[in-house]
Amino acid sequence: MGDDVTNRSVVSRARAVIPGGAQTGLRAQAYDFGEIAFSGAAGATLEAVDGEVFTDYHLAFGPIVLGHGHPPVDEAVTNTIDEGVLYGTATTPLEVEVAERLVDLVPSAEQVNFCNSGTEATYHAIRLARAYTGNDRVIKFEGCYHGWHDYVDVSVYPPQERVGKRHPESDGMLPEAVEHTEVLPFNDPGALEDAFEEFDDVAAVICEPIPHSVGCLLPEEGFLETLREVTAENDVPLIFDEVITGFRHSARGMQHEFGVTPDLTCLAKAMGNGYPIAAVCGRENLMAQAGGDNTSGVVISGTYSGHPVGLAAARETLRLLETEPVVEEISALGERYREGLEGLLADHGIEGRAVGYGSVFSPQFGVTGEPRNYEDVLGLDEERFAEFARGMRERGHFFTPNPYKRQHLSWAHGERVFETYLADADAVLGSLTSG
Ligand SMILES: Cc1ncc(COP(=O)(O)O)c(C=O)c1O
Repeated sequence: MGDDVTNRSVVSRARAVIPGGAQTGLRAQAYDFGEIAFSGAAGATLEAVDGEVFTDYHLAFGPIVLGHGHPPVDEAVTNTIDEGVLYGTATTPLEVEVAERLVDLVPSAEQVNFCNSGTEATYHAIRLARAYTGNDRVIKFEGCYHGWHDYVDVSVYPPQERVGKRHPESDGMLPEAVEHTEVLPFNDPGALEDAFEEFDDVAAVICEPIPHSVGCLLPEEGFLETLREVTAENDVPLIFDEVITGFRHSARGMQHEFGVTPDLTCLAKAMGNGYPIAAVCGRENLMAQAGGDNTSGVVISGTYSGHPVGLAAARETLRLLETEPVVEEISALGERYREGLEGLLADHGIEGRAVGYGSVFSPQFGVTGEPRNYEDVLGLDEERFAEFARGMRERGHFFTPNPYKRQHLSWAHGERVFETYLADADAVLGSLTSG
């Protein structure tokens, strides 16, 4: 890049050739805080083209669990590339090894298929469930995100007047697909029981065990257990979308921590510390439907599925998550961020709360109490969040620029950045009340 390359010039060129000026609408939201483009990341930091360095709490929406550019993971990738980039035929020792690790670690995993994104994983899981049951209807929960495909991109962030109704999140979705997606409130076991009374064509129930797409909704005692019981009674696959929770909160997934084993599990994000790798795994009799030759059974396919780069990253990331106290340390730090923020909100008399779990935290303004479902998150003060995030960015902290989502910690974050965060949050919250 030449000397004239600045945040502003990159953003201006991006707007001419990339719709919205970034690869996704959510990424473009970063512009709300001023034109910015990034050109480097290391450890807990993110570097803008203009040279500003931020402590990164966004962490690419969550995959970076060890820190940006964690050397052992990057070395593992480099070593793998030296042997060959892509074979795309038969199997490889690396893919067998990582599949075996997942089978050892994740309670529901008896067999594994790799893919490249969480969206692919949930798509595959639903196809497997539909083939198994011969049914069409998918049940999901309001506020849960399972990727952008037509079966699930429904009622993730419905506006108030659309709560309790099917709300397609995108134009261009197939109405028949949307109509086959039933949306229920999270933490309402009765609603699930009623749905199974009403419909005899349910193919799958899909759920984030902790919905982090709206900050953090913790499942109440008995909720996930009811999902398990009702789906088992009806022989309908239960799918846990552990794209965020898997590995960031536990090397064995939240299904292990909660003691509820689904039939199928979707994994991605923290599995590869930033490299593209995802998986659908589950019971052998469901997964084996994909064991045909692409002319029968369930087709699961992809030129880049099981790519050595993602697998090498996953093998090393999983090894570190198993052998080092990563989850323990980042989760303890997360608790301190939540407590620290709660204390500051109280000190400054600002209505709000700090929700989260483990290494995920989310300051939410204008709402109080423990959120149980999507409706409890609606009505949060978006403008106040933007002011807080802007003030924090001016002081060198980069947030996921969306008030409904969440901030993340990595193993590269530590005591020093925590202290700085707290002091700066104190100053920014103080300026909000005095301003
Ligand atoms: C819980 C959950 N499921 C699925 C997805 C989709 O994953 P991807 O963006 O890799 O397609 C996401 C992405 O944020 C997610 O948070």
